[in-house]
Amino acid sequence: MDNGIRAIVFDLDGVICHTDRYHYLAWKALADRLGIPFDEKVNQRLRGVSRRESLEIVLGERSTAYSEAEKQALAEEKNEIYKTYLAAMTPDDLSSETRATLQTLRQRGYLLAIGSSSKNTRQILERLGLGNFFDAVADGTRITRSKPDPEVFLLAASLLGVRAEEAVVVEDAASGVQAAVTGGFRVVGLCSGGNDPGADITIRRLSDLTAIFGGDAL
Ligand code: BG6
Ligand code: MG
Repeated sequence: MDNGIRAIVFDLDGVICHTDRYHYLAWKALADRLGIPFDEKVNQRLRGVSRRESLEIVLGERSTAYSEAEKQALAEEKNEIYKTYLAAMTPDDLSSETRATLQTLRQRGYLLAIGSSSKNTRQILERLGLGNFFDAVADGTRITRSKPDPEVFLLAASLLGVRAEEAVVVEDAASGVQAAVTGGFRVVGLCSGGNDPGADITIRRLSDLTAIFGGDAL
């Protein structure tokens, strides 16, 4: 393994699949109904952040106008919209590039895990045909603090039985890069999700990983 790296921990939304787009569309539908301005710029701040914390960002100054019970209902409303997109997903939504990259990295002997803030992680993996693929899945149902806290990545490492310095995190979000750095991981930033301050390496496409893991880049 390159420089003692034994494992690769992938963010899910925006790295393995394009569900980041569905998050955007679902928040946009909710914001439009509430008459709150919402665009791609605000959406960037939601990447990697939990559903409940995302709602606070979406509501912004309007947050104080809603009770806790109303906020729970709004978060649920967004999730129901989001799940209608998930329900239409099939294994065809896993790109051949991503599928081939994962298979190559596994053949090269790396342990592979998911580290996602999403509580929908299991459903998404099932729909993509990856329900039993990963060696470990750390997700939003198993953590108390979402990114930029490192909890989800530390859980993934623990489930794999590796130390943080033996694992690399692949992330598309600034909050995720920060979480990985704080946790002591090396980080590959996928630049499709915006800037990746703090990433050790930035890649443009997931398949670039096959050149990194097999070479001496990290
Ligand atoms: C992260 C996404 O993976 O999961 C965030 O980047 C999202 O945008 C978070 O808010 C929580 O997702 P879910 O599916 O539990 O609402
Ligand atoms: Mg992401």
